[in-house]
Amino acid sequence: MPPAPIPSHVPEHRVHRFDFRDQDGLRHDPWTYLAGMSDLPDIFFSPDLGGYWVVTRAALIDEVFCDHERFTATSLAIPRIENPMTLIPNHFDPPRHGVYRKLMANGMFSPRALATLEPDTRRLTLDLFDGFAPGTCEFVHDFAYRLPIDIFLELMGADAAYRDECLHFIKLVFRGTTLAQTTEGFVAANAFVTRWLDAQVAAPAANAGPMFQAMLAARIEGRPLNVEEMRAITMMLFMGGLDTITSQMTHIMRFLAESPGHRQALIDRPETIPVALEELLRRFGISYIGRAVATDFTWRGVELRRGDAVCAATPIAGLDRRAFPDPLVVDFDRAGAGRRVKHLGFGSGPHLCIGAHLARVQLTVMLQELLPRMPGLRVAAGHAIENLPGSTMMLKALPLQWNC
Ligand code: HEM
Repeated sequence: MPPAPIPSHVPEHRVHRFDFRDQDGLRHDPWTYLAGMSDLPDIFFSPDLGGYWVVTRAALIDEVFCDHERFTATSLAIPRIENPMTLIPNHFDPPRHGVYRKLMANGMFSPRALATLEPDTRRLTLDLFDGFAPGTCEFVHDFAYRLPIDIFLELMGADAAYRDECLHFIKLVFRGTTLAQTTEGFVAANAFVTRWLDAQVAAPAANAGPMFQAMLAARIEGRPLNVEEMRAITMMLFMGGLDTITSQMTHIMRFLAESPGHRQALIDRPETIPVALEELLRRFGISYIGRAVATDFTWRGVELRRGDAVCAATPIAGLDRRAFPDPLVVDFDRAGAGRRVKHLGFGSGPHLCIGAHLARVQLTVMLQELLPRMPGLRVAAGHAIENLPGSTMMLKALPLQWNC
């Protein structure tokens, strides 16, 4: 995509090139590159991806997430897409957002719907481990792509045989390098979800998925959700809940494979994993989230115009040295022994990730179950690890070896 013209309200000293989908620095060593962004202005304008504002201070990124009156979620995509598919609840601002959010939190994401999440995750994790060749796996495809989708399909009561079809459109949407590929992914996802939902709604009693049943039981202003709403919610979960966990897993496992001290600390004291995980989520943020400016206003001395795109990036927030001294250092006690570091890895404000508990359980169980079974874990020698930039950052492949 050629650089966009610089709008007249953007001063020259605020212009800096940054393409989070295709930046060289993000392919080689994304974390050092992103930590270096603390040296740039707090808010700068990139002519890439159609032209958008990038916020580099964690405190301001938090403000973008929280201030829905000035930063609307009704336009999330960067670059902007005309007539995007509505994803519920992400595409709505309060108060409309809150109606759907509440219904999802009280039903689909309630403790009741997720009652067997932890044992199910443990079972599926061990099944996947048992499927590895002795002492070796290609972690991205053998594990990180599989666990989140297998769990999600179970929760929705969908057949595990759909895994490959779903992975196909997820990869197109998130890893596509052209607009044509991402559009193809969305169209395929929509066709799948529509076909699958129609079949479930026609015979709901046959579906044993607690998340699907909660969606069916949900009431909005006294009525059940219509199929269109169910489709927009299901699409949202496919788009928000799969590639994100996969991406997060790849960076965390790579770090632990290359850092025996941190790994051993978690093996020796597995009860500290939930606290350590928060530091890993801070250090390896993955999501570039979009908003649009809702009204002309001046923000911290910067003139913003209605419709301007703004990027709130969780990896930039987590590596902001004004919020986290020595941000590249992984320090499980960063917030004090036994205390969880506060980070923006799951966003903040009204749209704070509703699947955060699901993600934390999967990541915690992965660390609890895999690390002790992989003594001497290391990245297989002779492989260059390739980072894939995109709206979530992930590793293309992660060949691992351990002693057995
Ligand atoms: C490590 C894994 C995950 C990460 C890093 C992550 C990150 C995020 C972030 C940053 C947001 C805020 C978006 C915004 O402000 O516009 C968000 C929202 C959301 N996430 Fe996640 N997410 C993860 C896992 C999941 C899972 C497992 C699910 C569900 C299956 C999920 C479903 C959602 C939904 C539905 C929203 C929109 C919530 C709303 O608009 O109220 N996410 N996520």
